Amino acid sequence: MRRKIVAGNWKMNKTNAEAVETLKKLAANIADIKGVSVVIGAPFTTLSDAVKAVEGTNVEIAAQNCNPKDSGAYTGEISPVMLKAIGVNYVILGHSERREYYGETNEFVNEKVKACLAHGLTPILCVGEKLEDREAGNTEAVVEDHTRGGFAGLTKEEAAKVVVAYEPVWAIGTGKTATPEQAQEVHAFIRKLLTSMYDAETAAEITVQYGGSMNAANAAELMAKEDIDGGLVGGASLDADTFAIVVKGAL
Ligand code: PGA
Repeated sequence: MRRKIVAGNWKMNKTNAEAVETLKKLAANIADIKGVSVVIGAPFTTLSDAVKAVEGTNVEIAAQNCNPKDSGAYTGEISPVMLKAIGVNYVILGHSERREYYGETNEFVNEKVKACLAHGLTPILCVGEKLEDREAGNTEAVVEDHTRGGFAGLTKEEAAKVVVAYEPVWAIGTGKTATPEQAQEVHAFIRKLLTSMYDAETAAEITVQYGGSMNAANAAELMAKEDIDGGLVGGASLDADTFAIVVKGAL
């Protein structure tokens, strides 16, 4: 059965020293928690120290992006091989900010998903509609397009290792969270879609997180829903005390 995974997405925040301090505090705060995986998506500049800071604790480290190639002339890029070599376990891929500001397509995201799986990294594949999509009644079409795009060409064994993060773009950083019912509706749709793409057993293995203004006050209610298997948390993951409360919402 799938795991509950609560992941913080720090985005472009925290110097190395700030990151290490927050991670140590977070690890202490959640030291006795079992049954939920806790992950922090930290900036590239701190990943190496971040992995060391959480060694022997319940916290694991994610990168927020990667290049699909192993190495080569790709100025400014970081490969899955480099991430694996320093002890990173997860990579956040296809975040709406990367799709929107850096033109990332489903095809490019799919290449990254495959590269991460090939190197033993767990991809966190972000999918989700913009406000105009929702208002036009296109939520399911957009979510299906992102999901099919990200999973393209994966065997069911590979698919079972992917984490999906449903993040309605209108809820990211806006304080406007989807209601638990709204989120559950889309999560159930994703599960049904994965069942049709693979089979019920595979779909039941795949962790589907909710993201978009998840916080200490709404996390438990969201994650209590049948198909909401954790969270991808931006703003509320920056503070170790706040994030510990969010994590406990998964229990
Ligand atoms: P937020 O960000 O929690 O600040 O809305 C979530 C995300 O972008 O992953």
